[in-house]
Amino acid sequence: MGGGVRRFKRKFQKKKKTEAPEENGERRGYKDIIRDNEEFVKYYKSQNILPDEEWDRFMEYMRKDLPASFRISACSSAEAKRLLEIVQSDFFAKLVAPEEGGETPEIKNLLWYPNNMGWQLDLTRKDIRRFESYFRLHNFLMSETATGNISRQETVSMIPPLLLDIQPHHKVIDLCAAPGSKTAQLIETLHGDEAIAPGFVVANDLDNSRCYMLVHQAKRLSSPNCIITNHDASSMPNFMVPDKDGALKVLKYDRVLCDVPCTGDGTLRKNADIWVKWTPGHANNLYGIQNRILKRGLELLEVGGRLVYSTCSLNPVENEAVIFRMLFNAKGAVELINVSDQLKGLKYRPGMTKWIHTSKDQEQLMERAASSGYSTEECGLEKCIRLFPQDGNTGAFFVAVLVKKATLPWEAELRVGDDEKPKPKRPQKEKRRDVRGYREDPFVFFKGDEDIWKSMESFYALEGLDPKCLLTRCLVGKKRHIYMTSPAVKELVDLNQDKIKIINTGVKVFSRCDNKRMRCEFRLTQEGLFRIEAHIHARRIALPEKDLVTLLENHDPNNPPHITSFTEETQKLCEGVDEGSCVLDHDGTFKISIVGWRGGKSLRAYISKDDAMHYLRLFGVDTSRYDVNKFKKDDNASLTSDSKISSIDDKGDSGENSCEEDDKESKKLKTDGDSNKDIGAAIAVDSTENQNNSVG
Ligand SMILES: C[S@@+](CC[C@H](N)C(=O)[O-])C[C@H]1O[C@@H](n2cnc3c(N)ncnc32)[C@H](O)[C@@H]1O
Repeated sequence: MGGGVRRFKRKFQKKKKTEAPEENGERRGYKDIIRDNEEFVKYYKSQNILPDEEWDRFMEYMRKDLPASFRISACSSAEAKRLLEIVQSDFFAKLVAPEEGGETPEIKNLLWYPNNMGWQLDLTRKDIRRFESYFRLHNFLMSETATGNISRQETVSMIPPLLLDIQPHHKVIDLCAAPGSKTAQLIETLHGDEAIAPGFVVANDLDNSRCYMLVHQAKRLSSPNCIITNHDASSMPNFMVPDKDGALKVLKYDRVLCDVPCTGDGTLRKNADIWVKWTPGHANNLYGIQNRILKRGLELLEVGGRLVYSTCSLNPVENEAVIFRMLFNAKGAVELINVSDQLKGLKYRPGMTKWIHTSKDQEQLMERAASSGYSTEECGLEKCIRLFPQDGNTGAFFVAVLVKKATLPWEAELRVGDDEKPKPKRPQKEKRRDVRGYREDPFVFFKGDEDIWKSMESFYALEGLDPKCLLTRCLVGKKRHIYMTSPAVKELVDLNQDKIKIINTGVKVFSRCDNKRMRCEFRLTQEGLFRIEAHIHARRIALPEKDLVTLLENHDPNNPPHITSFTEETQKLCEGVDEGSCVLDHDGTFKISIVGWRGGKSLRAYISKDDAMHYLRLFGVDTSRYDVNKFKKDDNASLTSDSKISSIDDKGDSGENSCEEDDKESKKLKTDGDSNKDIGAAIAVDSTENQNNSVG
């Protein structure tokens, strides 16, 4: 996947403010915000969201900062298992322990999250960032996140993807996907242990800049099964796919996620500025778009498929009212289901069946429903899930799981192709957005007769890798990177790229390397290796653990380990591999393969610092000497210069010649090296401050 964009960076760096919005002409820091709002209390008391006796505890939790939480998300289950052991070990307990005395914060396993992979710390993200005693924990979380082996995600945000019950063959669409923590979870679940899954995930967002946060997420997970699109979800265009006879038909999805834009008052613990901005009117403004997105989501859903609707709002107007309206209009074609079986160990409350209708539109709907004998009780609104902060020390959240039982009443009225016609509500705005949004380079798939392909095929002895699933982002000239998609994604892109605004797809599997001593122009990439490793039958060196650790600890490209630093067996194996890119394998407690570089007299691991640290941790090597303490800059200077661990990915890319289009792409989507860290930083800021896109 291509990475981030300068424009995107600028936009989100601007948001890196520590100040809350103005109030009475004064700017205030977040810490100065008074975590109270009379209107909020009055409104929610009148909506009766909780019994009176629980109100104080609820407010007490709403005012506290949110604890940090994460999921273990390594691609291989063996690596995930080993990481789990680390999280459960004394090593991790020490990272979490405060330096001088004090109680060690709890490391809580989220019992309802499958395979013990979900964790919540009794520490806030701010604590981890700000206190020196947690700098090792911070480094651990940041570096394992960068390599896609853990995903930092709010606890309640893990629930919607889980309830979609995704299988590898599912066609999934995430309609409002950015910044993408749920998309990441969808992709991980789709893959399971499979390098290439038969299904796919379409991740869509209206906001062009936020789409590049999705690019970053997908790149982190190196998935060939994901497509990122940029459309208004309420008029999401249809993808066309061939039916059994080869004729084109509209694609229907097995799973749809509608994590809709909302007031976000469930995120008050994280976004304290909402205390200042909150008014009861916000929810009414969003009710329309929330309904339209849900309606379109249900239209895109296959009969028999499952849709999850979620918000980080407490407001029944954005939650139960939207679900009720859809159930009423669907006339039995859609059913709300009970998913308590999937959430054992999670404390939550049932959906509300009564609320105050705050707009004319809702009042009229309720009157119509009542006169036709349809009630909120009858449609089973209590099957919705409400999460409150005081129950699990989380944010507040709402989730409803719907199943499509039959074609929707209004779908039957549509003639074939009708729902394809664009329904521009505000044509001027659409037009402006297209012009302002970045114009993506084309997705050019290989035909299989390219010289580049033949050279790679013979150099790496590639077997069973379909060249038609490889693509570049330029039509002419030298190709810089080669990406790979799954066959299903290739078909979707081929058939729909003229009509659908596809921002990105594919995992980078090869990169140009103009090293004259290598017989092939393209080197392997670490991010793509897991997906193609099984097809590579040459240039592989099997290493004992000792040699692998030597490589991981010494992967400075300027000072690669001499061949003689390795065991005799390894030295012999090296003789059979001439200069250039290669695969370094180890099959011990668990199996790993990393990209290497065979030099004239040396051998080195061709991976980033974060990847090297990850593998060293898995092998139980003490990595503390590589930990940079950002609080002690002077000490770090000597540590960094001593350290043999450095980021080397840039080295492989330097001095490349590339076609104009790809140069443009690389500037736009700078994927490797330092720029990536900046993008990561921008995203970290965004996901803390804007993850739930509150209206403000
Ligand atoms: C609550 S956030 C989604 C969070 C995301 N699902 C996640 O877990 O990271 C809502 C997103 O909806 C997007 N959005 C707002 N209106 C939209 C629309 N009409 N169509 C598609 N996306 C929309 C916003 O740009 C925002 O990124």
